[in-house]
Parts: sequence; structure tokens; C-alpha cells
Amino acid sequence: MILNTELEYKGNLFPSKIVSYKKDVDSLYFTTENNVVLQLTIQRGSVLRFRYTTTGIFEKDFSYAITKYANRGYNHLEITEDKEYYSVITSKLICKIAKSDMRISMYDALDKTVICEDELGFHWEESHEFGGDIVKMTKTSQDSESYYGLGDKPVHINLKGKRYENWVTDSYAYGKDSDPIYKAIPFYIGLHHKKAYGIFFDNTFRSYFDFCHERRNITSFWAQGGEMNYYFIYGPQMSDVVANYTDLTGRPHELPALWTLGYHQCKWSYYPESKVKEVTKKFRELKIPCDAIYLDIDYMHGFRCFTWNKEYFPNPKKMVKELADDGFKTIVIIDPGIKIDMNYDVFREGLEKDYFCKRADGPYMKGKVWPGECYFPDFTNPEVREWWSGLFKELVEDIGVKGVWNDMNEPAVMDVPGKTFPNDVRHNYEGNYCSHRKAHNIYGMQMARATYQGLKKFSYPKRPFVITRAAYSGTQRYTSTWTGDNVASWEHLTIANIQAQRMCMSGFSFVGSDIGGFAEQPNGELYARWIQLGIFHPFCRTHSSGDHGDQEPWTFDDNITNVVRKFIEIRYQLLPYLYTAFWRYANEGVPILKSLVLFDQSDTHTHYRNDEFIFGEKILACPITEPNAKGRRMFFPKGKWFNFWTDKTVKGGQEAWVDADLDSMPIFIKEGAIIPKYPIQQYVGEKKIDQVTLDVYYKKGREKSELYEDAHDGYDYKKGRFSLRYFNLVGKKDELIIQQHKSGKFITTYKTFKIKLHGMPFKISKIQVDNEEIAFEDIKVNGDNTIIISKEFTELHVIA
Ligand code: GLC
Repeated sequence: MILNTELEYKGNLFPSKIVSYKKDVDSLYFTTENNVVLQLTIQRGSVLRFRYTTTGIFEKDFSYAITKYANRGYNHLEITEDKEYYSVITSKLICKIAKSDMRISMYDALDKTVICEDELGFHWEESHEFGGDIVKMTKTSQDSESYYGLGDKPVHINLKGKRYENWVTDSYAYGKDSDPIYKAIPFYIGLHHKKAYGIFFDNTFRSYFDFCHERRNITSFWAQGGEMNYYFIYGPQMSDVVANYTDLTGRPHELPALWTLGYHQCKWSYYPESKVKEVTKKFRELKIPCDAIYLDIDYMHGFRCFTWNKEYFPNPKKMVKELADDGFKTIVIIDPGIKIDMNYDVFREGLEKDYFCKRADGPYMKGKVWPGECYFPDFTNPEVREWWSGLFKELVEDIGVKGVWNDMNEPAVMDVPGKTFPNDVRHNYEGNYCSHRKAHNIYGMQMARATYQGLKKFSYPKRPFVITRAAYSGTQRYTSTWTGDNVASWEHLTIANIQAQRMCMSGFSFVGSDIGGFAEQPNGELYARWIQLGIFHPFCRTHSSGDHGDQEPWTFDDNITNVVRKFIEIRYQLLPYLYTAFWRYANEGVPILKSLVLFDQSDTHTHYRNDEFIFGEKILACPITEPNAKGRRMFFPKGKWFNFWTDKTVKGGQEAWVDADLDSMPIFIKEGAIIPKYPIQQYVGEKKIDQVTLDVYYKKGREKSELYEDAHDGYDYKKGRFSLRYFNLVGKKDELIIQQHKSGKFITTYKTFKIKLHGMPFKISKIQVDNEEIAFEDIKVNGDNTIIISKEFTELHVIA
């Protein structure tokens, strides 16, 4: 007789009434009659963590996302209890927990308005197939609430009205609205009534977010396993939400070497050596700045990682050195799949040491990737990561490779449903053994981490450089990233713009797209328009699949080459500005690109703007994303903006038409800004910088700007050897004052600033530097409002 042993299907289950409460330092524990425990941790005054168990017992607390450097501590904590609620009160938030059903409501501590409320709140379904729970949360969407974040989703900047999935997926030629794609960043920002908060659902299982799609006023998120474990992060400024999210999940461990912010050229693939040299030579010949050249999979011997195809590259060390002498840093691709081949030492070693992933019943996880059948290191095992990082010794230390590009690390597997490992694959997960259901979303992150550790070790005393395709929250600590296999189409240019902005507001600013598109070939116009956008992305690289022809700056015609050169030159001039923005990002978590909503959330016009964004703090850019355009309409956030090309001003808070022929694009500078510029170089370090230009844009009123510099590589800056200049601009009817405060021990090579004054409302008749009047000849005022003065000035007065 066959017995039906299947458990009774129970459907959604809910916490019942709270029967006990206990406090342990900064964590509060609320227990219900049916054994649900809510652990509420006060991380900071504006950051609370909510963690639930349905069995009365918590699993070991472990997260790959949360950094050990996250700030903790609060200055005020009060817990009160009345008939219906417990109230947890910090200086920023009031959190009410309903005694009857454990539902949560969050209020602003200052004005007591509702920020976010549970609808059903936490509930769950038992998972008969895998054990544990499918954990769920529903919250009420507030009036006119908008939603942002979630990493690389190629969808409208405002996520409202749709459902999204977090499951890292190889997505060749994805399109608008494809979901999920390469990254899983389960962090969103809610914005309503001018106030923003964030929710980071730190659960690595396949998870979902529904923003008023299934039900009009309900936002929900759930995961197929693990714990309901989320951080509530209050702003009310969106930029503070993002900064606090990166405080939790980390910021880049070091600043990138300046050359990594230069232009990079890539293709699948440049080989043999003569082809690589032909490309790099052409850059120098045509005087198009470029800092990095990439070797895609064909540099390897039969796609075996850490080997070379000696037919194509007979002497890699010599080639890398010659490229370096010409200013090119060589970057190579490394994928996770290790070819099954007993004559291949990396494979043999991995096998001997038992470092490859296995299926539930013991066999190795075998999957096909570029080299054919492969096994895959379990990067969730710290010992495997240590081994992996050691494999970079020869590439980096001996051959001189300067960066490593991690690809296919979703992990991607060819010719199988789901394009990845099956669920039953086992992982170490730092000793918390689990299946691929839990480890999938962080596999690529841990590979990039291991790669980063190797690069960091073997590049020392220089800084490491890594790029990854797959990522989970926190990956920004180790590496840069790109948006994967896009397509050479106008629609994809629009998508690339949104994705880069979205990644920045999701805490991961070191991002760019394959300029020109990976699949298919752009025409010259599309390529030029894409370069125009690309120079404003923190990571700036042309890459293409190579199947459909070439994609170098000179592939199209001379006109296009000239446009591309012109824009890459702007990028190189703006390097000190971008580096300063990076420093702010790495230190304070301020996104390098700011969508307009992030720049000015108080203006509801910004809530649905996709195209315009702020690069750094002061530059407003808006790409042309249509063919044959002579310009476009765009929205200007509040304030006054100088046209970068003409110095004409536009008043913000409105839409306006901007001319932009193919050799131009809409770029505007915030009034009062001081923009530092370096001379054009063919690669970073080509020239000794002997003067820095400061483009000063007049403003009636005050504006602050800054300039951060250091040795642009190495670690001395961590010992105080940096140079940080704050500029305070005050503009009056007949006077302009610039004050400078400097800190840090680094001595820059240049001695003077060339100050270019834009938009001056008066004719200059007198100039004082540090309270002394200076003869015009001494400071070289040259008729076009350009002044050359010592970099050490503390106060400059320009008087009518
Ligand atoms: C993947 C990558 C792409 C790379 C190719 C070959 O498609 O996303 O960038 O060129 O593999 O390695």
C-alpha cells in the first residue's frame, strides 16, 4: 500500500500575537505565540535591521554583503510600550510593532509622518520541496510613491508598476525590460512626500520585488528560501539612503589607479600579438587617448585559464612590457570554468585539493563553457579563494598584466536549461554548507573577490584592477563592472544610460557599458553618440563581439574619428574632476552619477526622468539617443546651467531644446562650479602635469567645489599623502571671491592654476591675491578672463 506522506499544504502563515519581548544590547527580540521571533537591531539612528525566524531559532548570522567596516551606534534609543504597540524610537525614526500581529510601521521621528508601513507584513509559506520557508513581506505603497534601485535592470528608472526578479543570469543580447539579467542587488529606494527610504533585502536566494504590479497599492518582496532579513534605511535624502546602504555593503577598498578611469579598448578578440600592436599603434598615430587594451579568451591555450596561446602570443611578457612602454596597460579575461584536462595543472591541482563544486550526491558539477566540459571552483570556500588568488602570481607579477576581467561568473553554463548550475550543487558558503539555490547569486561576487585578492597582492605597491560581470550587493568593494552583452542599437544606448545611473544609485558606481554595443555593429553615428555617453561613465570601454566587424574609433570615417577623439580628450581633461568624484564615492558613498531624482527629489518633475543625469557634482549631461538628431529636448533641474560649449545660461526647472549636432552633445555646468582640468594626455602619466586649469563659472551667490589628488596609484594616500582643496566661491554684482582651503601632505607636481572665468557679469579692473593687489602682467590676465596664479593662493578677489 502506498501511503500519502505529503505534508498538509498550509498556504500563507502569519505571526500571531507577541507574547514576550527582550532586549540584548542593540537588538530587541519579540516572540509570538506561534514561535515567530523578530530580531530588531538598531544599527544606526537611521538604519534598522529586521530579521525573522518561524521556528524560534535563528540560523547562524552570516552575510557576504555586509562589510565588517559598517558603522554602528546611535545617540538615542527609547523603547516604550502601550496597549497596542511597542515603539522603538531613535533620533531619526519611530518604529511601531503591533502586539496583535507583529506588523511594523515606520515614522519620521521629527515630524511623525508615515514613511513605510507593513500591509500583511512578514508572512511565509513552508517549502515542502526544499525545507525551510518561502519568506514574504508586503508593505503599503504610500500616495504617489516612486521606486528606484535594484542594480542593472534595463527598465525605466522609476520601477513602479512592475515585478522584478533577482537571479544572476547570463543574458546575451538582452533587451529593454529583460529581467533578470547579470546582477542581483536586492536594494530599492522608496520616495514619497519628498522623503526617501531604502530597503535592502539581504537574502541571496532567488528573490522578487513587486512594486504595485500585482496589487495597485502594495509593494512586496519575497525569496524562495533563507530568512526574511532586511535593513530599513531612512534618508530622508535619497543620497543619504544610498550612502548608508554603501556604509552597510561597503565602498571600494581603495581608490582606482587613475589610469583605470582613462579610455579602454576591447574586442573579442584582439589576436595575435601583431593585431594587438596594430591597434595600440593606431591609437598613438591618430592621437586618440587610450590607457588599456584587453585580451579576450583567445589569448589562452584552448581557453584554459592562466595559460597562453604561444602561437598567437609567443612572448607575453615582452609584449606586455612593450605595450606598457607605450602607455598601454594589458588586461586579460579569466572565466570560472576550468577545463577538464589531466594535463592542465590548474585542473589537476583543483581536483587534488578538492576545490571544485559537486552535485548533491557526489559527482562533480560538470558544465560546458568556452573550453568545453569544465569543473568550477567553489569560490564560496575561503581556501579555494586563497588558491585562486595565488594563481595570478605569474600573470601579474611576472608577465605584468595590470587588470583582470572576470566573465561568465553568473556562473554561465552553455546548452542547459536555466543557463547555470542546477539547484542541487553544493557550496561551502564560509562553512554554512548549502545548495546552489542559496549560493548562486553570490558565486560571481566571490570569484571577483578572490581575483581582487590576487591582484591586490601581486600588483602591490600598485592598486589592483578587476572587472566583473556578475554581482550581488557588496561587490563594489572589490571590483568595477560592466553591463554585459548589449546590442548595437539606439534603444540599447538609452538602456546603457539608465543602467549606469541605476547601478550608481544601487551603490555600485564603477560601471560602464560596452560602448557601441557588444552584439552586432553600430554605424558611425551610433558609435559616436555612444562614446559621448561613455565618457561620462565611471568605467569607459569600447567592446564588441567582433562577429560583425570592427569597432575601433577609426572604423567608420574621419568625421567620426574626430568626434570620438574630441570626446575622449574631454574625458582626459576631466580626469581630476572624475577622480575627485570617485574619492567622494569611495569615502562617503556618494554616487558618481546622479539621476535627476537623486539630485533633486523635491522636484516631482525629476521622478520619471530617464535620460539626464549629473556627472560628479556639477556637470549635467544628456546623451542624444536618436539617429539624425540635431539636438534634443531635455529637462534642467533647478538652478542655472552654463552650456559647456557656448557659456550661454539656461534657467532650470523646465524643459528646453538644446542644439547638438553629431560633434556635440548637451553638456551643462552648474553655476558657481569650479571644474579642474588636466592637459590632454595620450595616457595617464604621459605628461608631467605642470598646470591645472580651473574653469570657474560665475554665480551670484555661493558655491563649493573640491579637488582631490594624490599619487594616482599606490597606497601613500592612505597615510595622508593626498591633496584636498576646497574652493569656496562667492559672487557679487561687482566682485568674485574664491577662497581655497587645502589639506593633506601630498605635493602636486604643478605650481600654478590657470583660472578661466566664465560668465563674468562685469569687466575686471582689479585683482587681489591674498589681499594684495596684483599687476595684470604678473598674473597674466590675457584678455579672455584667464588668470594664472600660484596653486597656494588662499583668496582670490576679482573686482569690477
Ligand atoms: C561573454 C562576455 C563578453 C566576452 C565574451 C567572450 O559574452 O560578456 O564580454 O567578450 O563572453 O569572452
